[in-house]
Amino acid sequence: VYYTPESTPENEIPDCAVVIDVLRATTTIVTALNNGAKSVKAYSDLDLLTKESNLLPPESRLRLGERGGKKVDFCDLGNSPLDCTVETVSGKQLFISTTNGTRSLQRVQEAKTVIAGAMINYQAVVDYLQEKQPETLWLLGSGWEGGYSLEDTVCAGAIASLLVDTGKPDMIGNDEVIASIALYQQWQDKLLDLFKLSSHGQRLLRLALDDDLKYCSQKNITDTLPIQTSLGLVSLSN
Ligand code: MLT
Repeated sequence: VYYTPESTPENEIPDCAVVIDVLRATTTIVTALNNGAKSVKAYSDLDLLTKESNLLPPESRLRLGERGGKKVDFCDLGNSPLDCTVETVSGKQLFISTTNGTRSLQRVQEAKTVIAGAMINYQAVVDYLQEKQPETLWLLGSGWEGGYSLEDTVCAGAIASLLVDTGKPDMIGNDEVIASIALYQQWQDKLLDLFKLSSHGQRLLRLALDDDLKYCSQKNITDTLPIQTSLGLVSLSN
């Protein structure tokens, strides 16, 4: 388990990385694909997002942009999973840039397998890992601008605790694995309370995004599993 992209060991890439940004990028990506988006391409740089999304006709693309929790002006949507309804995203190619989540996706984009995990789909993540048994696995939280985040860590703990319970894949983890499991064990039945205490949760509450927190705190409401199919691009696994 790594809490942030900045805390990962330099020049190392795992076989498989699970990128986690519960509030809210990976929850949004899972939701968009679940509701029929064709694919989601992640960018840390908004200029590049604009340039590449311009190659598609406006009716087949959607731009999602967030900075500091707020929608980026020229984008169609911010980063709320609740905006990714079937009516809005179905059949569209999405281009997304967020403060932290898209940077985590980029940190591990050279890994053989990159998947997106959140509270809303972590059982699907675990099922995939148990089937594929990757040799090296990172559960990578996104944090906030290089700092620790409770919501990503508790999600890493949810995944790690299921993997440890079954003993597959063989888990020899760092100290963060134990710490994330402990956090999950303490808060698993009170995730919304934990998210309300978290610093990014508080930032979202200040923006009156209470419903986003509620949505993101639900466990396993979908088995949608976003998987990277080409650099920076995630779509559905099958
Ligand atoms: C991020 O990437 O930092 C988040 O997803 C921010 C947000 O809540 O939009």
